[in-house]
Amino acid sequence: MSLARVKALKLHNFRNAEKAEYEFSDGLIFITGNNGAGKTTILEAIGLISFLKSFRSALDRDMIKSGASFFRVEADFLTTDAHRIAISYGRNPGDLSSALAKKYAFDGRQNEKAANIIGRVPSVVLSPDDMRIIAGDHAERRRFLDLLLSMLYPAYFAALQHYQRALKLRSQALKSRPDEGVLTAVDRELAQAGVEILEKRRQFIPEFATPFSENVAKISSGSDTWLIQYKGDTSAVKTRDDYLAMLKEHRATDLRLRQTTGGIHRDRIFFTQGGETESGQPSAIRGSADGAVSSGNRIPSVPQEIRTVGSQGQKRTAALALKMAQFSYMRAKLNATPVLLIDDILNELDLKRRASFIDF
Ligand SMILES: Nc1ncnc2c1ncn2[C@@H]1O[C@H](COP(=O)(O)OP(=O)(O)OP(=O)(O)O)[C@@H](O)[C@H]1O
Ligand SMILES: [Mg+2]
Repeated sequence: MSLARVKALKLHNFRNAEKAEYEFSDGLIFITGNNGAGKTTILEAIGLISFLKSFRSALDRDMIKSGASFFRVEADFLTTDAHRIAISYGRNPGDLSSALAKKYAFDGRQNEKAANIIGRVPSVVLSPDDMRIIAGDHAERRRFLDLLLSMLYPAYFAALQHYQRALKLRSQALKSRPDEGVLTAVDRELAQAGVEILEKRRQFIPEFATPFSENVAKISSGSDTWLIQYKGDTSAVKTRDDYLAMLKEHRATDLRLRQTTGGIHRDRIFFTQGGETESGQPSAIRGSADGAVSSGNRIPSVPQEIRTVGSQGQKRTAALALKMAQFSYMRAKLNATPVLLIDDILNELDLKRRASFIDF
């Protein structure tokens, strides 16, 4: 089992760092400093090298130092061998009216494809923002899934890029008066990429569900139980033809709403307290505003979603369990230990839960 390590990091016009260089020793590293000193910025830069995006879900341009026209991040790292990745983003220095562009270099080779960079430094981030994966909408959970699978499988990342391009074309087409031929061509692209994505997600969920539930139990000493479920209009889709048929079924609605209403970009991921959610819908069974449940309306016993019933600490526990499961899952699949980037996360946990996490 190899160990991923970041050995050196150079920042240029990245957040508050005009120019900064760091060297890291082996083992556990603590970064200390006042509020606003740039601690999270260092983790964000390493995350960027690993999965090409900010884990703060900031836009690329937010990471450019104010007043500058580009940023550049370079990292020397060690997995089985030593490598160097550089990512720059901004306008062409010679032409400030040029479009903002992101560029990747690997071991000095310029203009590498993103799919050839993502996941080279496998990493897992634990940050206060993880709460959004648990408590936010389904897009947050899809993002988590997509990021994890993209780091593990460059082909998944490529399929996602392919899918997003096709989806954009399709929404453009739906906004005009599309002819049958255009839609059929775009649908074929969507179906191709869509089944590839679906297949990997389906393989992932049950494999991941076990370590996730185990971690929840471990951190909460057995008092919390949460499960993961994946649902959507793609649930009956197995082949590319099934995917096409699903798109066909949605077409009338799509034309009316001028958007693609069915597909992997709309699938939902639930964290629930055991059992199945009713018809895949969020189990938002609540009383009226004053808390009373209208009489005569029996409450069906559907499992509750953590985002509606979980306490702050329970949600935090689930978020931690998720990231710990990501860590072990990636380690097992890659046969390499990812870099673990931990930002302040212990605040909402009681002492017992803190201790279980620190054991981990
Ligand atoms: N695009 C930018 N240009 C210039 N400065 C920025 C930019 N984005 C963020 N900053 C500043 O960079 C500084 C470092 O932020 P960072 O989040 O890394 O601090 P931190 O050390 O993690 O602080 P805390 O302890 O509060 O979490 C902050 O002062 C922030 O306002
Ligand atoms: Mg911080």
